[in-house]
Order: sequence, then C-alpha cells, then structure tokens
Amino acid sequence: MNTTSQKTAIEELALPGVCGLRPYEPGKPVDELERELGLTNIIKLASNENPLGVSQKVIAAITAALSELSRYPDGNGFALKQVLADKHGVTTQQVTLGNGSNDILELLTRAFVSPDNEVVFSEHAFAVYPIVTQAVGAKAVVVPATEWGNDLEAILAAITDKTRVVFVANPNNPTGTCVAGDSLKSFIKRVPEHVLVVIDEAYFEYAQDLFPDYESAEEYLAESPNLIVTRTFSKAYGLAALRMGYSLSSVEIADFLNRVRQPFNVNSLAMTAAITALSDTQHLADTLEMNKAGIEQYHQACIELGLEWIPTAANFISINVKQNGREVFEKLLQRGIIVRPVDNYGMPDFIRITVGSKEENQRCIEALMEVLQT
Ligand SMILES: Cc1ncc(COP(=O)(O)O)c(C=O)c1O
Repeated sequence: MNTTSQKTAIEELALPGVCGLRPYEPGKPVDELERELGLTNIIKLASNENPLGVSQKVIAAITAALSELSRYPDGNGFALKQVLADKHGVTTQQVTLGNGSNDILELLTRAFVSPDNEVVFSEHAFAVYPIVTQAVGAKAVVVPATEWGNDLEAILAAITDKTRVVFVANPNNPTGTCVAGDSLKSFIKRVPEHVLVVIDEAYFEYAQDLFPDYESAEEYLAESPNLIVTRTFSKAYGLAALRMGYSLSSVEIADFLNRVRQPFNVNSLAMTAAITALSDTQHLADTLEMNKAGIEQYHQACIELGLEWIPTAANFISINVKQNGREVFEKLLQRGIIVRPVDNYGMPDFIRITVGSKEENQRCIEALMEVLQT
C-alpha cells in the first residue's frame, strides 16, 4: 500500500471504496505457524470450524462423486435447492446458493447497493459487512452495540432514506450474542420496505441448541418480501473448505442475486457434500454435544482464572483477558495454539476461542493459564 499522500497510477484506477479496504484477516493456518515456528502438534481454534471434522458419510459421497470432476456443476443447483426448499418449507426459487454464505453477502451489496447508499450494522459485527459495503463504495453506518450485541432499536433509528441493507448476525461473530425471537420478529416487521434486512444465521444450529429464546428469521419470510436469511455449511456441518452457503428470501430478491452471481459459483462436490451432510443427523447431534461440553470447559476455566466472558450462543467464546488480547494471542501462538485476536472488532482486551474437542480445549486452557500467569 502507498503510505504517502500521493497516489500511484494503479491506485488512481482503483474504485475509491476499494482503496480504503483492508482485506479480511483470516484465522492463521496451521501450516503457516508450523513453517514460522517449526512447531508440530499445533491446534487451531481460530475459525469456528467443526472439531469433529467432516461426517464420514460426506467423505463417502464426495469420493463417489470424484469421477465427475471433468464436468461443470449444475449451475442451478437443482438437487440441493430441492432438499433445502423441503427442509425450510419454501420454493426452490427462494433459495440462492453461494460459495460460502460470504458469497451471498457480497452478491447482495453488488445487486442492491450503490455508492450513494448506506448499509447499517452493529459495532463488533462480522468483519465481512464493512468489506462488502466499502467494496461497492457505499457508506457503512455502525450502530453502537448493547451488551456486546445488536441494539435493534438503535439499528432501526439509524435507517434513513439512503439505507439499502441492514445486516444482523444472529448469533453475532465474534461476540456470540443473540437476539430473542420476539424482538427479532418485531424488528423485521418495522424495517421499512426500501431496506433489505439480512439475518445472518451462520451459527443457527448452535444457537438453537444453546439459546432458549432463539428463533430463526425464516419464520417471517412469507410476510417479509425484503428479508434475506443466510445459512452456511461451514460451521456445524463441518464443510468449511468446500465453501457452501445459501440464502432464503422472496423469489424476487433471489432472482436479482442470481443475475449477479457467477454461473457456476458453487461446485459439484460442495453440493453433494451438503445434501449428504443434511442427512447425517447423528453427526450434527454429536457436534452440538461436543460444543456444549466445550463451552462448559471454558466457563469453568474463566471462573478459575477470574476472567469474564461474553455468554455465547455459538461455537466460540470471547473472553476478556484483562490485558492486550493480541499479545495474549501471540504468546499462545508460541505454544502452538491458534486463537483469534479481536482488536480489529473494537475488542482489544478480548480473544475469541473456537470451541474444540475436549483435549484441544484442555490444552488451550492450560496454555492460557500459563500465558496469563507470566
Ligand atoms: C457471522 C458469519 N457470517 C458468515 C460467515 C461466512 O461463512 P462462510 O462463507 O464460510 O459460509 C461467517 C464465518 O465466519 C460468520 O462468522
């Protein structure tokens, strides 16, 4: 990046919004840390992946599908859309498939948001919302959070004639906070029709298991033509590498998303894997059980360490380490544990830990104790 005030010729060519963009900071890959520190036995608890891994049934299904790799995927995703439509009680025309749910978030701003528009989301919200907003040159309106979560009343108050999209992650990443079903319902009803309301349910399966008042926004699709609900196979279904997400919306919104998506944005193995993953209910049940037990491990550890945490409805937990979170992250790296610093989310004293297997959590907790006592 050019640090002087003078722009390079290439910077002059780039769109103004893109010039100010910082790329999304992903969780540090295991091989990168291995290369850097020469460590082995590294554990990654940084990207909210499934510690149980992928279902064996999925492995069998995609292995069987490998012989078809020379062929383009079904660009309309017929088979998967059918399964998803049945699961959610909608028509196939209401389902849009994405290369991860990230893809859908980007399609939305590309199809609906122009540089003179505004996009509203909460403080501490998922990092992709500002990126997709700025990429199309629109103005991000960041609403202060309440108790680390979405303040729905303040979000409604921030809507203007220029607002085109409101993003609400439920649960939110990296805070893990949830909004209760009744407040979500009244919120969706009150968002004016000229604004698309996106309820990002990437952690839906965990929230349903952990948060008694949780309700999916899918309940309100029939009565809300401006509602988009996004889901992913990257988290509870353990398919992060395959990039498979989707949205449910009115037929009209789905039609616009389809106009801007790449013709083959979702690959065949991902679609096969998704169909099989949905049928493996035992794998999902085991995943949720492991997650619940893991959250309990972190609660106990925080109590022992005298640390506060944000109650979570997802598969990660943000802990206030009462010191510089990025430094704690660095010290944990030295011990072969990759967690997530969240200073870029306005949470400099926190680290976010993805809930792993019992053994992974134990190692992480022991390393954290060591780091905090030095
Ligand atoms: C809140 C939220 N939404 C969306 C995503 C995107 O996930 P994917 O593109 O893998 O579906 C993530 C991933 O971390 C997330 O935390």
